[in-house]
Amino acid sequence: MQAAQTTGLILGIESSCDETSAAVVERGARVLSNAVASQVRTHARYGGVVPELASREHLQNIVPVVRAALEQAKVTLEQIDAIAVTEGPGLAGALLVGILYAKGLAFALNKPLIAVNHLEGHIHAVLLEARMQAQTVAAPLLALVVSGGHTHLYLAEERDGLWRYRNVGKTLDDAAGEAFDKVAKLLGLGYPGGPWIDALAAHGDAHAVPFGPINIKQKPYRAATETSPRFLFSFSGLKTAVLRYVETHALRERIEARRAALAAMENPNAQDALPLCDAETLGLIASFQRAVIDDLLRKTVAAAESLHARSLIVSGGVAANRELRRRFTHEAQQHKLPLAFPSIALSTDNAAMIAAAAWPRLAAGEFASAALNADPSLKLG
Ligand code: KG4
Ligand code: ZN
Repeated sequence: MQAAQTTGLILGIESSCDETSAAVVERGARVLSNAVASQVRTHARYGGVVPELASREHLQNIVPVVRAALEQAKVTLEQIDAIAVTEGPGLAGALLVGILYAKGLAFALNKPLIAVNHLEGHIHAVLLEARMQAQTVAAPLLALVVSGGHTHLYLAEERDGLWRYRNVGKTLDDAAGEAFDKVAKLLGLGYPGGPWIDALAAHGDAHAVPFGPINIKQKPYRAATETSPRFLFSFSGLKTAVLRYVETHALRERIEARRAALAAMENPNAQDALPLCDAETLGLIASFQRAVIDDLLRKTVAAAESLHARSLIVSGGVAANRELRRRFTHEAQQHKLPLAFPSIALSTDNAAMIAAAAWPRLAAGEFASAALNADPSLKLG
C-alpha cells in the first residue's frame, strides 16, 4: 500500500566500521548516489580499526557525506520517502553516529526510519545490481557474506514481499578478511591486508606451501550450534600455520626490512611491496590465499548442494578478491549454479546496499521505533 503512494526514494546511511557512507536509492533498484568517505588512511598506521578514532571520523564525515549523496542524486531531503540506517552488527560507537543522525533526520522531517542489518545489506548489494540489470536471482539463494568481520552462509528467499534468512554456516574464530589482514600485518604489508595479498599472490606459487584442508571436528560444536559442522569455518589455525612457517624459515629479518622500507614511503601499495618480496614470501602469500579460497569454495558448494540452493551470491569486502572470483566462477559453472558478485564498489561497505535492503520494508510499512539503538552483535537469521 505504502509503496504505491511513494516514489520509493530511500536515503541510506552506513557507519558500522571504518567507512561513512550515504546513498540515495530508488525502489531498491536504481542507485542515484553512493558517497563513501573511507577512513583507511587513519587506521592504516595502527594496522587495524581503532574504534575511538572511527567514531570521531564518522562524526566529522556524516554531514558532508549525506550532503554529497543528496547533491549527487539531485534530490532534496523533502523528496526522500524514508531514511534507512545500519542497526548492527559493527562497532557500537561507530553505529551510534549513523543511528543518531538518521533518527534526528527522520524526526525533523517526519519521515519513516528503517533499521537494516549490515549483513542483509551485503546480500542486497547483489540483489540491487541484479534488479538494475532487470535480472532475477533464483531462490532459495545461498549467500556467502565474507568480510573483515564476518564469514557467514545464509539461505535466503523472499516471502510475502519480505526477505527471510537462515544462517547455515559461520566462522568459529577469525573472519576470512580478518585472516587476510592479520597475515598481511605479520608479513610486514599494509592495511587492510586483503588488497595487498590479492595483488602479491598473483606473483607467487599457490602450491609452494602445502596448507591442507581446514576441517572442523564434529563433536565439540554439535551441541553449540544448529549449523552443520560441514559448513563451519575457522581461519585462526591457518594464521598460526603462516606464523610457524615464518619462524621455521627464518623470514623475520626480511619481514622487518620490508616493514621499514614501506614505512618510509608515502602511501605505499602492493606494487611498492612487490620488489621487497622474494619468491619464498610470494609463495607463502599465494599459498595462504589459495587455502582460504579452497575452504570457502568447498564449504559453500557443499552447502549449496545439500540445501538445494538455486543460485549463489558472494558478497562483502573479500568478494573483491580476484582469485576468489575466478575460482568461484569456474566452480559454479561446473555445478551449473548461477553465481553473482557485487561490482567492486558495492563489495565493500557502502550505504547503497543499506538503502536497497530497506526497500521491501518501506513497501511493507515495517519501520523502526524512536527507541532504535545500536546492536553491535546483531544476528541475521
Ligand atoms: O565488507 P568490508 O568493507 O567491511 C566489513 O564489513 O568488514 O570488508 C573489509 C575486508 C577487509 O578485511 C579487507 O582486507 C577485505 O575485506 N578485502 C579483501 C580484498 N579487498 C578487501 N580481501 C581479499 N582480497 C581483496 N581484494
Ligand atoms: Zn561489511
